[in-house]
Amino acid sequence: RMVKMYMACRNDIHRYDATFIAIYKSLIPAEEELEKQRQLMAHLENLVAKEWPHAKLYLYGSCANAFGFPKSDIDVCLAIEGDDINKSEMLLKLAEILESDNLQNVQALTRARVPIVKLMDPVTGISCDICINNVLAVVNTKLLRDYAQIDVRLRQLAFIVKHWAKSRRVNETYQGTLSSYAYVLMCIHFLQQRRPPILPCLQEMEPTYSVRVDNIRCTYFDNVDRLRNFGSNNRETIAELVWGFFNYWAYAHDYAYNVVSVRTGSILGKREKDWTRRVGNDRHLICIEDPFETSHDLGRVVDKFSIRVLREEFERAARIMHQDPNPCAKLLEPY
Ligand code: CTP
Ligand code: MG
Repeated sequence: RMVKMYMACRNDIHRYDATFIAIYKSLIPAEEELEKQRQLMAHLENLVAKEWPHAKLYLYGSCANAFGFPKSDIDVCLAIEGDDINKSEMLLKLAEILESDNLQNVQALTRARVPIVKLMDPVTGISCDICINNVLAVVNTKLLRDYAQIDVRLRQLAFIVKHWAKSRRVNETYQGTLSSYAYVLMCIHFLQQRRPPILPCLQEMEPTYSVRVDNIRCTYFDNVDRLRNFGSNNRETIAELVWGFFNYWAYAHDYAYNVVSVRTGSILGKREKDWTRRVGNDRHLICIEDPFETSHDLGRVVDKFSIRVLREEFERAARIMHQDPNPCAKLLEPY
């Protein structure tokens, strides 16, 4: 009887699709916001070109990867060739230029792990961080954006997961939980694993895009217009996928042995990555391989306390999707 009741209530998981879609739509930034970003970029390009005519500016991170929320800060990378680049000197010079252009809150953080200049543009109200030659971030931003073009369900799922992670406070790398970048990779991997698959593995296909960044060759199939129908044999909807995603991370993922890998579109063993023991602060308690910097585990920030927090949150989410009478609101309830 109990089993029957539960079947009865979750056979109709589709009745929550409309609510999830409405939440997703409410999280997409408005076109005028993107226009303001373009305006600020054009202005910065102008300023930079005067001092460094060969430099290029790229947007990266959530403002450019199709997974950005409204009112986010923007991340900019200044790319410049040459072996004699002194990043600190350049950032200080850049700060000077920005300051005399009346940009506000200009601050050069030359000792940060990723050294940046921060600024706030009083015209558009946008805050911005500029780093130098972080080209890998520009390339992985393009990879995420390309995956987002293939099937709208990726964007839907990732917005819900990011919203959940922010509401439940498990999107704070300085507290040992995961970055937004890691969550998006987890979503891509999950959709690559559905049967039939909803997303292909672009890095395993014939490359149409290829760049070399330091010593890393980044190649993949980026002609994604050709893949618009890729997932059409799979009819799963957003509510099912949200449920499936949390179910996977709550009950199905093998935390002791496995690594999720978007690069190969498969699950790898920790052994083959040599991620079986703690080295320094890297504990590998949840393993998410960076698609290009393959020695990089995006789970490395997770420690023995935060792994419990994370897993409890995955279980809470799975339970809610399983049986709560109002799963959309409950899932995203602030911690
Ligand atoms: N990034 C990276 N390696 C990491 C973390 C981040 O290369 N370990 C790069 C990625 O290009 C990512 C960008 O930095 O897109 C920004 O990362 P993050 O702040 O995690 O994601 P956002 O997409 O900016 O998300 P949010 O909306 O939370 O700011
Ligand atoms: Mg960000």
